[in-house]
Amino acid sequence: MEKPIVIGLAGLGTVGRGLVRILAENADVIRRRIGRDVVLKTVAVRDLAKQRGVELPAGTSLTADLGELVRDPGIDIVCELMGGLSAADTLIREALAAGKHVVTANKHLLAERGQELFSLAHAAGRCLYYEASSVGGVPVVQALKESLAGNRIVKLTGIMNGTANFILSEMTSGGLDFEDALAQAQALGYAEADPSFDIDGVDTAHKLVLLTRLAYGQHYSLAQLPVRGIREVTRTDIEFAREFGYRIKLIGQVRQVDGMLEAGVFPALVKYTYLLARVGGNYNAVRIEGNAVGPIMLHGQGAGELPTASAVLADIMAIARDACAPNNTGFPENPLPEAAIQDPEDAESQYYFRFQVADRPGVMAAITRVMADKRISIAQAIQKGKEGAADVPLVIITHEARTRMVHEALAEIDAMDFVVAPTVHYRIL
Ligand code: NAP
Ligand code: HSE
Repeated sequence: MEKPIVIGLAGLGTVGRGLVRILAENADVIRRRIGRDVVLKTVAVRDLAKQRGVELPAGTSLTADLGELVRDPGIDIVCELMGGLSAADTLIREALAAGKHVVTANKHLLAERGQELFSLAHAAGRCLYYEASSVGGVPVVQALKESLAGNRIVKLTGIMNGTANFILSEMTSGGLDFEDALAQAQALGYAEADPSFDIDGVDTAHKLVLLTRLAYGQHYSLAQLPVRGIREVTRTDIEFAREFGYRIKLIGQVRQVDGMLEAGVFPALVKYTYLLARVGGNYNAVRIEGNAVGPIMLHGQGAGELPTASAVLADIMAIARDACAPNNTGFPENPLPEAAIQDPEDAESQYYFRFQVADRPGVMAAITRVMADKRISIAQAIQKGKEGAADVPLVIITHEARTRMVHEALAEIDAMDFVVAPTVHYRIL
């Protein structure tokens, strides 16, 4: 048997713990698949005294010095499972410079600084693998890099954040309200250290930047990506969406339109008959449409200890097999070219509007006049009045409309004296 592949692990939190567990539980399967053992030599953490709830293998040392992972000539792969930018960035740069391969789950870092880090890995001839950083246990990185490599990707649409999907699922089933669902997602280890990343769509944006790179071989700058999260989603809109046959999901989407990329992160109404609408709890799903393969759907747990560690281990095993031919982004160009980006205001979509308006004659006529002026056509509408209520919700589902026209129409309508609250609007998939 070949000599073992030796790992230095940075971080023993949710994902790091999961990796230690599967390395022990699946040691025989790993050995049979790659023909060698995977040995965990050193684990670096911040706090040496913290109880971890996991037993390290005999012979594995614990350190508070990240440099030990880099300096040790016996370590082949550094696994960065700490998160955050600064320490992780330094560790990865130093590890690559020291000739080590790197596995990371850090989508934040790769979305912000991937261009540079992939170039460094390329120059060093080392692997910088990151299956766990995009949609946790769902093998979408490998699918785009290898299995779908012969396709032009027409569109990629996904539910890519377990925490947000868990919260929306709980709110939809009536199980928990927003705050309680978030607390539970945190307790289950799904949420980021800063959960506003999950709720505000930032984590989905990080993943979308990585998946766009893999799907199109282009760098879509995070700063240019339009991002909207789920903070404003209310039970009222979840209920109205249900009446029209939709569920509200946090979506990340990129597609090719007229030779440019149109991408965004947004809560959307998804028809309940679509598979994406059925994805519940911490589960994620990515629907990829290739020009040869047609649509495919990858579905599984996007967050949590073992599912995420499963993806980290897959990368370690891939390096054990193909370290002599690193394939980091799926494209040999380094760095990848900047994406030609379509103005988000030009995006076309169906829309859901909920107006909160005074219940008096002429309101509907005034709203529809503005919509007609902006070439926004109505597909369905309902108004739900309560006896004696001064104002009522008026919900309209549109046909495909241009986003710029939608924004202009809503600005005009919201300035009218019968509108009592800013109009809620969501895209429809
Ligand atoms: P976590 O539970 O907060 O664990 C982070 C670990 O990193 C802790 O053990 C911490 O040490 C250690 N650490 C942090 N800064 C360090 C430093 N400067 N030096 C040494 N050790 C340091 O985080 P996690 O949930 O496992 O997430 C880790 C990474 O995986 C993040 O990039 C995250 O975005 C990504 N990810 C997470 C999931 C998930 O479901 N949780 C899924 C996909 C990807 P102490 O324990 O001593 O503080
Ligand atoms: N916080 C992330 C989520 C972890 O909830 O999906 C997986 O990337």
